[in-house]
Amino acid sequence: MARTTSTYVCQSCGAQTRQFFGRCASCGSWNSLVEQSATPTDTRRRRPVASSGEATAIPASPRRSEPIAAVGDRPLQRLGSGYGEFDRVLGGGLVPGSLVLLGGDPGIGKSTLLLQSAQAMAADHSVLYVSAEESAQQVKLRWRRLSDEQALGAEVSQLHLLAETDLELVLQELEALRPAVAVIDSIQALHDGELGSAPGSVAQVRECAAALARIAKRQDTALLLVGHVTKEGMLAGPKVLEHLVDAVLTFEGDRFASHRLLRAVKNRFGATHELGVFEMRGQGLAQVLNPSELFLGSEEPSAGTATIVACEGTRPLVVELQALVSTTSYASPRRTATGIGTNRLHQILAVLEKHLGLPLSRFDCYLAVAGGLDVEEPAADLGVAAAVVASYRDLTLPPGTVLIGELGLGGQLRPVGQLEQRLQESARLGFRRAVVPKGSGLGRLAAGLDLQLHEAGSVAEALVLALGVNPADDRA
Ligand code: TYD
Ligand code: MG
Repeated sequence: MARTTSTYVCQSCGAQTRQFFGRCASCGSWNSLVEQSATPTDTRRRRPVASSGEATAIPASPRRSEPIAAVGDRPLQRLGSGYGEFDRVLGGGLVPGSLVLLGGDPGIGKSTLLLQSAQAMAADHSVLYVSAEESAQQVKLRWRRLSDEQALGAEVSQLHLLAETDLELVLQELEALRPAVAVIDSIQALHDGELGSAPGSVAQVRECAAALARIAKRQDTALLLVGHVTKEGMLAGPKVLEHLVDAVLTFEGDRFASHRLLRAVKNRFGATHELGVFEMRGQGLAQVLNPSELFLGSEEPSAGTATIVACEGTRPLVVELQALVSTTSYASPRRTATGIGTNRLHQILAVLEKHLGLPLSRFDCYLAVAGGLDVEEPAADLGVAAAVVASYRDLTLPPGTVLIGELGLGGQLRPVGQLEQRLQESARLGFRRAVVPKGSGLGRLAAGLDLQLHEAGSVAEALVLALGVNPADDRA
């Protein structure tokens, strides 16, 4: 009788050990080891597992190296996804033979996005949609709901649907149909009968993805894989999955708001940090072509409100910030920030306290970014400072003003990148004044845009320019 041996596989990094540990020795995560039993015969696998994670291109014949200049140019032929916002994040469209992993919380709209996109692409290409989570009937119901609005009638027959969880059958169908694009919804729900472990486990996800990658490269099918995310917001499954695919996209959004943000975390064929914006409607996802309007409050300007221009990839977004500063009744004041890192807020408050002499450590401070956007950029610093000071002094910033600049710990206002695009976007949305770091050299551009440009070297100077009074002056 074959002796069964057990290995323990870390569900977060894929490391294997012979012994159980509470904490993975390789990545340090707790309770992530899962037992996986394998009989010795199992090691003779039908397909070799890509151990390094990199997809092998399977050369048909032994290849020799050649001088790089002599390598034939093959222009990247990209397939449009049917949605400009999606294409932007992909770097211009889907590349044949590539693998794209789309992650996101349950119910955020991954299946909807990919079904809509599959439907749009099916007008020109053959597309296979593999549903491993929902039945064919469920997908069809959704498809019908989505297609009505798009008026892309039922005569489109190049969209094929397969409701299947068995990897072997999915591979067979891919080989038989040879589609230009295939959607696998989701990779965690597929399973390879040859492996003993449960669907969704590290070994399963890795083996299924590697097998799909091989077939995609061989027949130039662009693959879109849906991946689940864990409670912590990480893509579930082993890290090797992220190395195996060419692009990792995340689809995120506020459960309470209708807009959804699509971002590239990794992209071998384009820039990362590009942003695509969609809105979930009753009949599927619609593109938001003018996202700044989403992140701008429509009400009258009030005390403690400031407008910044954040750049997401190459795309400037005009966003409203709100701060509330109130006397604290706690021993240590409360600081709460949504959309901006709390550490960043602490740092800005410390700079204001030190360089403007404002006693902010005796006040609670709350900060929020409108529209649920996460702003990671330091270019938002000046806006945060202005919102805090305006709330503290009960001042209203003159309407139509945007604030751009990073705060140095010494109270300086530091230059930021892509200032030109930021100013253009502000002017396009009707803003007439901008406070920016000194030495931008964009005076002429601003004049052309009919934008009043105020340049400041320090945060104190910038706030005087922005508010029209000196906030450090107690009589202000
Ligand atoms: P879904 O694509 O199933 O999410 P995921 O695949 O990421 O789990 O999206 C499901 C949610 O989207 C569900 O809560 C209902 C909502 N929805 C709409 O609001 N309008 C629509 O037209 C569709 C299809 C879904
Ligand atoms: Mg789904």
